[in-house]
Amino acid sequence: MTSPDSVRAALAAVIDPELRRPITELGMVGDIAVDAGDASVQIKFTIAGCPKKDSIESDVRATILSVEGITGVEVRRDVMTDAERSQLTELIHGGRSPEDRFGPDSLTRVIAVTSGKGGVGKSTVSANLAVGLAQRGLTVGLIDIDVFGFSIPALMGIEGEKPTPVGAMILPPRAHDVAVMSIGMFVDPHTPVSWRGPMLHRTVRQFLADVHYGDIDVLVCDLPPGTGDVAISLGQMIPHADVVVVTTPQKAAADVAERSALVARQMGQRVIGVVENMSTFIDASGTERSIFGTGGGDEVARRLDVPVLARIPLSEPLRESGDEGQPLIVGDAADPATTALNALVDAVMATHKPRGNRSLPISLG
Ligand SMILES: Nc1ncnc2c1ncn2[C@@H]1O[C@H](COP(=O)(O)OP(=O)(O)OP(=O)(O)O)[C@@H](O)[C@H]1O
Ligand SMILES: [Mg+2]
Repeated sequence: MTSPDSVRAALAAVIDPELRRPITELGMVGDIAVDAGDASVQIKFTIAGCPKKDSIESDVRATILSVEGITGVEVRRDVMTDAERSQLTELIHGGRSPEDRFGPDSLTRVIAVTSGKGGVGKSTVSANLAVGLAQRGLTVGLIDIDVFGFSIPALMGIEGEKPTPVGAMILPPRAHDVAVMSIGMFVDPHTPVSWRGPMLHRTVRQFLADVHYGDIDVLVCDLPPGTGDVAISLGQMIPHADVVVVTTPQKAAADVAERSALVARQMGQRVIGVVENMSTFIDASGTERSIFGTGGGDEVARRLDVPVLARIPLSEPLRESGDEGQPLIVGDAADPATTALNALVDAVMATHKPRGNRSLPISLG
């Protein structure tokens, strides 16, 4: 006869879609009884409104039915107690600070996307970069800490979706294989927000400490323009972050872009390169036009002594894809803007410095 233990062992193959671990490890499998060919299993969901209840239950059923000797399954839905939930959050997300989670010893690479001026394409670049890195097999998180001009939920096609709180931990929604957190998920788009420094600082900390991104390889951070409170808070918490500077070819944009990069550098962050966005426009006759002038990207790169990682053309499909919530990089690979975005992703990957060879902090004497 089939034993409850063999049913439990089989359930190790069921992965919680949000926490991405076997449900047996997460303490979600309760009592199991087997009577002749019938199995009865208690599944303890993390929260009563768990959005993935149905999909987990159908995985559990299919898995148990594949166990030899089992012909019938009863799933008893239950919810974890507060104590069980805290044990779970402690297990997978133990109360660590942003510095522990993303500090120099962590394996997660943090990439901050900044600019001097607003509206130059930071959010568009951040969203496509995050999705492009995920397409290359990395596990990726994307955060948008732009209180006044958040746009990542719309760009990723998840407007209206909310994170799921599980005890003290927050589970981010996922889109295009990226875990996404945005201030926009917490504030009403039609209400004015006037947050001052300390509130922004707490929010940055919460986004980095309380949100469970899982074991991500890269965290892309879409920052507000300029060198305001958010950039400084992030710089204090993650001084070893890599910074990508976005500018247009215009001289005025280039001047302020340089300034924002210098502030990042002052905080210890590594500027890995410049993205020149809205670079050229190819008109209907095939002629390249420099609508926003030329040379801004090269100029910022020269002054900072870093490479131009990519030049992204002014592109209608790029604008449309953002409006539709389908980052262009998931679409037509032959589009010139997609080619440029892929070049950016490859260039960013090439600048990765693994943390493994970091020297140990040994002091002599
Ligand atoms: N290369 C491009 N071609 C055409 N449109 C673009 C391009 N890059 C960005 N856009 C469009 O320009 C607008 C501003 O882009 P985006 O929101 O990414 O800029 P931002 O720097 O994040 O702005 P903000 O400073 O407000 O956060 C958006 O409507 C976007 O679709
Ligand atoms: Mg933006």
